[in-house]
Amino acid sequence: MKRILIVGAGGQIGSELTVYLRKIYGNDNVIATDVRECPALAESGPFKVLNALDATAMAELVSSQKVDAIFNLVALLSAVGEAKPQTAWQINMGALLNSLEVARLYNCALFTPSSIGAFGPTSPKDKTPQDTVMRPTTMYGVCKVSGEMLGDYYHTRFGVDTRSVRFPGLISNVTLPGGGTTDYAVEIYYEAIRSGRFTCPVPGDVYMDMMYMPDALRACVELMEADPAKLVHRNSFNIASMSFTPEIIYAEIKKRMPEFTMDYNIDPVKEAIAKSWPNSLDDTCAREEWGWKPEWDLSSMTDDMLEKIRLKNLK
Ligand code: SER
Repeated sequence: MKRILIVGAGGQIGSELTVYLRKIYGNDNVIATDVRECPALAESGPFKVLNALDATAMAELVSSQKVDAIFNLVALLSAVGEAKPQTAWQINMGALLNSLEVARLYNCALFTPSSIGAFGPTSPKDKTPQDTVMRPTTMYGVCKVSGEMLGDYYHTRFGVDTRSVRFPGLISNVTLPGGGTTDYAVEIYYEAIRSGRFTCPVPGDVYMDMMYMPDALRACVELMEADPAKLVHRNSFNIASMSFTPEIIYAEIKKRMPEFTMDYNIDPVKEAIAKSWPNSLDDTCAREEWGWKPEWDLSSMTDDMLEKIRLKNLK
């Protein structure tokens, strides 16, 4: 990768991935785009407003900027996808199809995240294997499975260098996620600092895989720089670092903030989604094929999240 285009750079992943890639590949070589202006991203390098559903505009940018790698990060997340399933399909699949076509026409590598949401209630729950039953029951998951298959199709049919990981719930302290089922694991840290109490929308005993953003950013680069000869899989790799329930993350915060309290107001949509997803993924293939290894666990992440959010002086 030398010249990178990020599509959907203003979201939870893109706002940090842009900065991370600029540090590695040079500010001018990472062109951030989003459907909205993003002043913070425009400060450190090139930024353009781009609607990912406009294939012509995407193609012009890739051609004029001599882009050789695209990160397509456009997606409506799982809970909002259930409120607007048709829109979720149009946006999630439209942005992906345009990215695949532009990558094919201009010979670019393409990274698109998949998710734990690609699995469903009939997938094995614990240590969910890399290759197994995938029958998701959310529109978000339907898009992710379809996207994985399209990515592999473009690779085998047209030779496009498509690569992807199935991200767990991502926990970060720069840009908030919006409309996901795993968002509670971000919000809990903000509320611990802001108000000292948190109302959790997901039942206390439901496990989901989670990951701290620094590991997720590193995974993107390590996979995209991996030797293609070693990749048996492409779309998409299970990656994992930690799995916990609301009660477990609550206890971890409470160890550091004994006054912190949590109660529940269960959101039935999020409950159903969370229960349909795996408890934990088996990431052996990612470890073997491109050397994936997480660096953060729940304890180190909790220390870092609380420290970083405290510095924001939230009211
Ligand atoms: N974080 C996403 C969601 O909850 C899952 O990939 O929708």
